[in-house]
Amino acid sequence: MAIKTKSLCLLVAMQEEASPLVERLGLTEIVAPFAKGIPMRAWSAAEVEGRITLVSFGADPRFEGVSNIGTQPAVLAAHLAIERFAPDLMINAGTAGGFSSRGAEVGQVFLSADRFGYHDRIVPLPGYDESARGNYRGLDVSRIAADLNLKIGRISTGDSLRTLQTDAEEWERTEPALKEMEAAAIAWIAWTRRVPFFAIKAVADLVDTGDTPTEVQFTENLGAAVAALTEVVPRVITYCLGAVVDDLAL
Ligand code: ADE
Repeated sequence: MAIKTKSLCLLVAMQEEASPLVERLGLTEIVAPFAKGIPMRAWSAAEVEGRITLVSFGADPRFEGVSNIGTQPAVLAAHLAIERFAPDLMINAGTAGGFSSRGAEVGQVFLSADRFGYHDRIVPLPGYDESARGNYRGLDVSRIAADLNLKIGRISTGDSLRTLQTDAEEWERTEPALKEMEAAAIAWIAWTRRVPFFAIKAVADLVDTGDTPTEVQFTENLGAAVAALTEVVPRVITYCLGAVVDDLAL
């Protein structure tokens, strides 16, 4: 039977990415949504077609203005979101580094291709090698991309903002359009729990051009990338909420 999307959950790492979305979507914060000590925050709104929730990863209490980022909080946030909100569609929204060689430009917004892998988990042991790389299947969102005129790009996940020496070797094989720090981790738990999942990522910096360090580009462009993300996410939500998940692919 065709199941309609009645509970859609956004997962967003940085508060700088989450706050404009909360405002644009008119979401209200849920007080103490998770167990004591869990840093993740949650917001929600009831729409005619169903409920939207947004879970952000919360702050690292040891450092002023620093959000929890990367795969460690990503898995926990996704697990908690599934337990608390039982979403029938989960979307990771955020920013990413882009590969200009695959058409990425700063400020552009991509939807994810249907596989999510890691570039920094190199385990040269039979079986463990491919298990560590992830390569989890996500939702095919080719129809949303076509209808909303968005690009689709393969996402590669790792726990560093900086590019490490071994990354290029992995990328030669996987040919990603984007690199970021959460999507494969969420894809793992989403796949494990059979929750349909995809990602929306706005390009904040370019990985393969120029001499400007990633962190400088990222800091300069974060505002523009978040603005682009905040424009696109509500359009995607309107498209998906109430839609049959199986119909989101061409
Ligand atoms: N988020 C935004 N830009 C990034 C990059 N270059 N690497 C990882 N995560 C990012």
